[in-house]
Amino acid sequence: MDKIVIQGGHPLKGEVNISGAKNAALPILVSALLTGGWNTYTNVPDLQDIESIKLLLAHLGARVESDGHTVRIDAGGLCEPEAPYDLVRKMRASVLVLGPLVARLKKARVSLPGGCAIGARPINLHLKGLSLMGADIDIRHGYVEAEAPRLKGAEIYLDVASVTGTENLMMAAVLAEGETVLRNAAREPEVVALADVLSRMGADIHGAGSSVMRIRGVPSLKPVSAPIVPDRIEAGTFMVAAALTGGDVTVCGCVPGHLGAVIDKLRLSGAELAIRGSTIRVTRSAPIQSVDIKTLPYPGFPTDMQAQFMVLMAVAGGLSIISETIFENRFIHVSELRRMGADITVSGNAAMVKGTPFLSGAPVMASDLRASACLVLAGLIARGKTEVNRVYHLDRGYEAMEEKFARLGAVIERRPV
Ligand code: EPU
Repeated sequence: MDKIVIQGGHPLKGEVNISGAKNAALPILVSALLTGGWNTYTNVPDLQDIESIKLLLAHLGARVESDGHTVRIDAGGLCEPEAPYDLVRKMRASVLVLGPLVARLKKARVSLPGGCAIGARPINLHLKGLSLMGADIDIRHGYVEAEAPRLKGAEIYLDVASVTGTENLMMAAVLAEGETVLRNAAREPEVVALADVLSRMGADIHGAGSSVMRIRGVPSLKPVSAPIVPDRIEAGTFMVAAALTGGDVTVCGCVPGHLGAVIDKLRLSGAELAIRGSTIRVTRSAPIQSVDIKTLPYPGFPTDMQAQFMVLMAVAGGLSIISETIFENRFIHVSELRRMGADITVSGNAAMVKGTPFLSGAPVMASDLRASACLVLAGLIARGKTEVNRVYHLDRGYEAMEEKFARLGAVIERRPV
């Protein structure tokens, strides 16, 4: 297993291109299951999670071809209703096949994903929605078994605005009989990106990006060609890195409109941001100020940026309170940051971060994707050498992260262990 070795203390300078969004690409690739014929997706990021979903789609009977950042999928031969444990346990987002499988094959058997490092992450709302649409649902031997001769439109209230829950139900509803109304739907840009692709396939969807979505079922969908939207979390991660190192970085090919909360908090922390079209230039000459953060569903501050922002606050000039309201265990990076000299106390869902003048390099590891990214950021400013272990977490969600940082002037390399 590889590790990332960083020699801290080099300000980042230059331009970085943002890849396609993992969390948009995953449901969009899965949406190919809703039709026969070749769908073509461009700007698909080269990530381990994308490899996992391609394997699952192939297992279900789809033909999957890749060429660089282009992926083609034809699910005309979709025949297998089962998503097995071995594939689902590697990536929770595999549960997204549930809705499309019931819509196309009238039945599905999908391994329950179980909890993960950041929280219990139940899928009760995905199941509640499918059940209201007329599916018979059973949980047996660790699998969800769902069956419905034809799904029917329904009024569904989501107790929590779940991102993949909204996506799963949207994909089930597009081929259902009649109208489905999703109340308290997730408003994340990735949900809107999926709705755009489904609409281009012929689906009748209104209200994507708002908390009430109306989906009128259609008899069939047609294949589509679509690009994947830029990854707002990758963009935000590089923006925080630029502010952290006091560099001068232009983040290219992003959608600034998707980054409102991150832009606001970065400005409050003393960074200067110049937004022009699809680029954001981040510089900082003033010292870093402490700001409070509370993670919320979009358009609030993203939980997927919480760990990275905490590094900035760890070297800020005062006290910052970071509240995590989405996942119950998303402070796993705190103990590793402490080992690097950060002064952070956790109480319930709040972390009190008292800025210190510097962090010092150390061997570290984390057990989730964004926590690993935060440790790379910490390594970029720490005195001395930092080794980030368990790099497979980073490879799940950041395309060539160390190469992108190296091109910006960081002293960073991947080494086999
Ligand atoms: N929840 C329920 N019941 C459900 C579904 C969710 O109680 O049926 C709860 C969860 O336990 C959590 C909250 O609702 O407390 C929000 O979870 P959500 O379902 O929105 O998360 P998700 O869809 O599983 C996606 C992203 C995550 C991101 C979250 C929040 C994908 C593939 N994953 O997860 O991304 O953190 O939304 O924005 O889209 C990452 O990329 O590192 C990552 C974890």
